[in-house]
Amino acid sequence: MKRARARWSRAVLVCGKCSKKLDGGFGPDGDRPLAKALRKRLGLKKGPKAAAGLVETRCLGLCPKRAVAVVDAARPEEWLVVPPGADLDALAETLGLAADRSV
Ligand code: FES
Repeated sequence: MKRARARWSRAVLVCGKCSKKLDGGFGPDGDRPLAKALRKRLGLKKGPKAAAGLVETRCLGLCPKRAVAVVDAARPEEWLVVPPGADLDALAETLGLAADRSV
């Protein structure tokens, strides 16, 4: 089996379908989907060369009302339900992404 190296220190899954249903809800103007707003806030790029993986997925099966399901790969036993307008700095802290901000 081949292996591919990534620079990710953390991996977070964000439900893209929840985000789509909210039609924005995050970022300074409240018009960005969660993954995009969080990536922008933390200066994270996409792909394996990013400091951390913030991956938008299809439906995760939780389907919260007016919120976004998020899975921290380091703590898969406890998912987050993030309402629109949530504090992105606090969320990054909770997900252990804040430390990657300077990268
Ligand atoms: S729509 Fe997001 S978990 Fe189902």
